[in-house]
Amino acid sequence: MELFDVYPLYNVTPVKAEGVYVWDENDIKYLDFYGGHGVISIGHTHPDYVKSLSEQLGKIGFYSNSIVNPLQQELAHKLGKLSGCENYNLFLCNSGAEANENALKLASFETGKSRIISFKNAFHGRTSAAVAVTDNPSINASLNLQQEVTFLPLNDIELVIHEIGKGDVAAVIIEGIQGVGGLDEGTTEFFQEVQKECNENNVLLILDEVQSGYGRSGEFFAFQHHHIQPDVITTAKGMGNGFPIGGVLISDKYKAKYGSLGTTFGGNHLACAAGIAVLDVMEKEKLMENVKEVFQYFSEEIKTVPQIKKVKGKGLMLGVEFDFEVGELRKKLIFDKYIFTGGSNNKNLLRILPPLSAKKEHVDLFINALKEVLS
Ligand SMILES: Cc1ncc(COP(=O)(O)O)c(C=O)c1O
Repeated sequence: MELFDVYPLYNVTPVKAEGVYVWDENDIKYLDFYGGHGVISIGHTHPDYVKSLSEQLGKIGFYSNSIVNPLQQELAHKLGKLSGCENYNLFLCNSGAEANENALKLASFETGKSRIISFKNAFHGRTSAAVAVTDNPSINASLNLQQEVTFLPLNDIELVIHEIGKGDVAAVIIEGIQGVGGLDEGTTEFFQEVQKECNENNVLLILDEVQSGYGRSGEFFAFQHHHIQPDVITTAKGMGNGFPIGGVLISDKYKAKYGSLGTTFGGNHLACAAGIAVLDVMEKEKLMENVKEVFQYFSEEIKTVPQIKKVKGKGLMLGVEFDFEVGELRKKLIFDKYIFTGGSNNKNLLRILPPLSAKKEHVDLFINALKEVLS
C-alpha cells in the first residue's frame, strides 16, 4: 500500500529533536522556527514531558470515557488556574477541528439555531462544520457546503450587527489571531462589540485559540489581550506539545447533558499526562514571560531587515511580510540555512511559530540567516 498523497513535502526527514532544534537522518541540525504548524510549545523532547509520558505509558495508556480518570480532573484544574479561565468546564477531544466541531454543535444545541458567522480568511479545521466555517472553497466538498455559514470581513462590526439581527445565528466563531489566513486579527473594540452583540442576542461567541492559545501570544489565550470572556474557547496544538489532544472550554453558564458530546480517545490517560506536563513546564519555566521578552527583542531586531514591509501578530505567533512571494525564501532558509519557517494564505508572508522556549540567541540566528538569504 502507498500513502494517499495529499501533502506536498519538503525533502527533509527529521529523526530526532531537542528544544528548538531538529536533526535529520544525515545529522544536519535545523532551527525549528515553525514547531510543526505551531504545535511544539515547551520544546521538543522536554525531559519532564518525556518522563511523564513514559511513566504514564508504563502504568495505563488508555481506557474509555466510561470510567473515572483523575488525570482529566487534574488537567482541567491546572488549565483553569494557569489560563485564568476557572469559570469554564473542559471537554477533552483529539484535535483542533474536533474541538471546533464540538463548539459549533454545542452552540446549535444551546440556541436551537444553525447559522454561523465566520470571517474572511478564517481557518478552523477539516471536519464537517469546522471546514464549512473555513474560508476556503477548495477544501469544502458539497457535503460540507450544506451548513449555513456567512463570512464577514474582520473588524466590520456593522455587518456583524446586521447579520445577528436576522435572528437565526447560533454562533460567531473567530480566531484569537488568524494563523493559516496570515496573522490578521480583530481590534480590541471589534472583539468587545462582537461579544456585546452575542450576549444580547442569544448567540455564542466561540474563540478559536487552537493556534493562538497556550501562551503563544504572550497571554495564555490571545483574546485576553482584548479583555473579553467568550462563551466557548477551543484549543489544541500547543496543548500536548505534539501529543494529539484538543479541548473545548465551555462557560459554566451552559450545563452539560449526558451524551450530548462524546469521543472514544479524547482525554485518554496518555493525552492527559502530556497536557499536564505541558502546563507544569509552562508554569515552572515561566514560558509566557519568556514569550513577551523574546517578542520585544524580535520586534526591535527585525527592524534591521530593510526588505520587510510589515510585522504582524503577537508573542511567538508572528508573520513577516515582504513585497514578493516567500516560497523561494522559505526553501533557501531550509536548505541553505537549516531553518524551518511556515507559509500562509498570504503568499508574501513568512509565518514564524517557534517553541515558546526560544531565546534571543535563536532570534539572532534567524535574523542573521534571513539577512544573508535576502542579500
Ligand atoms: C486556528 C485553527 N483552528 C483549527 C485548526 C485545526 O486543527 P487540527 O489540524 O488539529 O484539526 C487549525 C490548524 O491549523 C488552526 O490553525
